[in-house]
Formats: sequence, structure tokens, C-alpha cells
Amino acid sequence: MLPNFSAMLFSALICAIVALGVHAAGVLPSQIKHLVTFGDSYTDVVATGDQGTAWPVYAAGYSNTTLHPFARSGATCSNNITFRPFPPVFESQLPLYFTETGNGSLSLPSDETIYTLWIGTNDVGANSLVTGSNNASIVDVAGCMVDWVRTLYASGARNFIMQNMIPLELTILYSANSYPNRFWAVERNTSDWSVLMTELVLSGNALTKLMLQALAPTLPGSHIAIFDSHSLIQDIYDHPALYLNGTAPLNVTGCWDSCVAPFGGGNLVCTVQKGTDRDSYLWADELHPSEQADRIIAREIALTLEGKESQWSTWLN
Ligand SMILES: *[C@@H]1O[C@H](CO)[C@@H](O)[C@H](O)[C@H]1NC(C)=O
Ligand SMILES: *[C@@H]1O[C@H](CO)[C@@H](O)[C@H](O)[C@H]1NC(C)=O
Ligand SMILES: *[C@@H]1O[C@H](CO)[C@@H](O)[C@H](O)[C@H]1NC(C)=O
Ligand SMILES: *[C@@H]1O[C@H](CO)[C@@H](O)[C@H](O)[C@H]1NC(C)=O
Ligand SMILES: *[C@@H]1O[C@H](CO)[C@@H](O)[C@H](O)[C@H]1NC(C)=O
Ligand SMILES: *[C@@H]1O[C@H](CO)[C@@H](O)[C@H](O)[C@H]1NC(C)=O
Ligand SMILES: *[C@@H]1O[C@H](CO)[C@@H](O)[C@H](O)[C@H]1NC(C)=O
Repeated sequence: MLPNFSAMLFSALICAIVALGVHAAGVLPSQIKHLVTFGDSYTDVVATGDQGTAWPVYAAGYSNTTLHPFARSGATCSNNITFRPFPPVFESQLPLYFTETGNGSLSLPSDETIYTLWIGTNDVGANSLVTGSNNASIVDVAGCMVDWVRTLYASGARNFIMQNMIPLELTILYSANSYPNRFWAVERNTSDWSVLMTELVLSGNALTKLMLQALAPTLPGSHIAIFDSHSLIQDIYDHPALYLNGTAPLNVTGCWDSCVAPFGGGNLVCTVQKGTDRDSYLWADELHPSEQADRIIAREIALTLEGKESQWSTWLN
């Protein structure tokens, strides 16, 4: 009797440990019903960077969740850090969210809701860090991203996906063989920009990861995933045939809406692809991922919030 009993106790204990181990990291299948998105034009569902349907709309559709979109084109994390005349996460997007949850027009059960942030492109970009246009550093920007988790957690939010910065040096705007375009038409050293952008993105992503790894254990009941947009976009760049499916030759170095500007600005000269040809491109324009790239991002984010395995997501807790 006794050995049998302790064997049972032991296996129950093992089961409990295994169950804890499995369920401690990440969200459970069918748990998440609301997707709340923050960020910039990569995530804005109205002024969409891809000139098509933005990834949050696809992700909500793929995962059958209700989308609550707060991301706004042109945004930085905080205008106190990297000023741009657009609605930033901290001084505009979060205040609107708190107004809506405060006055009852938005009511989100914390266990059924996941929050995403994809920010940094404008913070590190032209007229900001890469051009030395403010007094902030990449350390401030990374700290701001992580403060977004802290701030929402303090208000009751528990589930988070932090999307890291893409290899911006692969966009036409920040590549070494760039051309003057709608985003930057002043003469510049494109090699310098490309090298600095590579460093800013890698450093920022490493800092955010370290800061989140330190933060996660201090937030009981939280589930925080890092979504590795950087590796995913790099993989699309390296293996386009695995992801792109349009009717033109696959193209990861150009964009389907390519516009050359005269130095100093003026009339753009554009080459624009149509219809299903667009799904052959990694980039929509000189700065934004294409709709097909966004569908891939949406697919992987949907897997993550459904509690399934995504190659590009890592749950910290
Ligand atoms: C989608 O979610 C809604 C609301 O939670 C539910 O009523 C519906 O059955 C779901 N649809 C599918 C296809 O799972
Ligand atoms: C931005 O600056 C204002 C005024 O100094 C301050 O109240 C606010 O907390 C700051 N926001 C952030 C995110 O640091
Ligand atoms: C709550 O605030 C939002 C944002 O300001 C506003 O659009 C909405 O009408 C308000 N709802 C109520 C019930 O006051
Ligand atoms: C950066 O700081 C310097 C010295 O305090 C100041 O002169 C300059 O105006 C600041 N620049 C910006 C963009 O805030
Ligand atoms: C641009 O910068 C690179 C170093 O990043 C340098 O080798 C090159 O000479 C510069 N080109 C011009 C035109 O200044
Ligand atoms: C490419 O694949 C996506 C699904 O990822 C699909 O929605 C889209 O219609 C496809 N594009 C073409 C041109 O077939
Ligand atoms: C990719 O697209 C750009 C812009 O439309 C074009 O200039 C370039 O030749 C294309 N590259 C390839 C390899 O097809």
C-alpha cells in the first residue's frame, strides 16, 4: 500500500510540475478575445503603411478576436524623448485608451485581452536619432518601450506582445544604395545611414529584450512575449519564395510603390505595380513592409495570441 501511495503522490507531483511548466509561460488556447494594438504606421489600420489592409485586421480575423486599434501613423514612443508632430504612444495613444476604459466605452477583461506594441521606426529614423535631431539616445527609446508594459500592467493589463524593430537597413530609405524619395530628399551619405541604422536597431532590440527579461519576473500574473520582427523580416529577405506569392518576379530590394524625388524635394517620379503583382514585394514603399509581409506577421501574431507555437515568438513568462 505504502509504496504504491507514495508512487501515486510522486507522479501527481510530477504532473503538477509539468502542468505548471507548460501553463506558466504564455497565454492558453481560446483565452484571448481582445487584441489591443499600439504603434506607428506599421500598425495603423486607417493610414496604413502598406496601402492595403493592416496586419492587426488580418490577425484579429485569423484568431477570431476583437480588434481595438490605437496605433497611429508617424508615432514615436514618446514625444518627450523623440519629438515628431504625430500622436505618440505615451502622450496620445495611451491617454485615449485610458479615457475610453475610464469612461466605460471600452471594457476589457484583463485575462481575455492581449496588448501589442510595435514602435521605434520613427524614433530611430530620419529627423530623429539617425540624423541626430534630438537629445535622446536609443537607451531612452528602449526604456520607453518597456515602460509601456509597466504602465498598462499598473492599470490591470496582463498579456503583452512586444514586437521588436525590423532590420531597417533593408528598407530602401535606409539601405546603402538608396535614392532620394518622399521620406528624405536631402543629400546624405547613404552608407553612413545604413551602418548607423543597423547599429541602432540591433542595440535597441537587445536593450528592450534585456529590460523585459528583467521586468517580467517583477510583474506577477503577467505574460510577456517578444515577437522577433527583426528575424522574420530578415528571413523574408533571405528566403522570399517561402513568403511572397505575387504574380511578378519576387523582389525584396525594391518596392511596389517606388518614387524618386529630385534632390531638395519636388515632383516625385513613381513606378507603381498593380494588383496581385504587389504580393511579390517585401516592401510597399521605401519604408513600409508590403501587405503580404503584413499577412505573414499577422499569421504569426495570431498563432502567438492563440497560445500556439510561432517560430518568431518567445514567451518570457
Ligand atoms: C468567433 O468569436 C465569437 C465571439 O467570441 C463567437 O461567437 C464565434 O463563434 C467565433 N467564431 C468562430 C469561427 O470561432
Ligand atoms: C512628458 O513630459 C511631461 C511634462 O514634463 C510629463 O508630465 C510626462 O510624464 C512625460 N511623459 C513621459 C512618458 O515621460
Ligand atoms: C469616452 O471617451 C471617448 C474618448 O474621448 C469618447 O469618444 C466617448 O464618447 C466617451 N464615452 C462616454 C460614454 O463618455
Ligand atoms: C539639445 O540640447 C541642447 C543643449 O541643452 C539644446 O541647445 C538643443 O536645443 C537641444 N535640442 C533639441 C532638439 O532638443
Ligand atoms: C560615406 O561614408 C562612408 C563611411 O560610412 C565613407 O567611406 C564614404 O567615403 C562616404 N562618402 C562620401 C561621398 O562622403
Ligand atoms: C498570398 O497569400 C495570402 C495568404 O498569406 C493570400 O491572402 C493572398 O491572396 C495571396 N496572394 C496572391 C497574389 O495569391
Ligand atoms: C525590384 O523592384 C524595383 C522597383 O520596382 C526595380 O527597380 C528592381 O529592378 C526590381 N529588382 C528585381 C531584382 O526585380
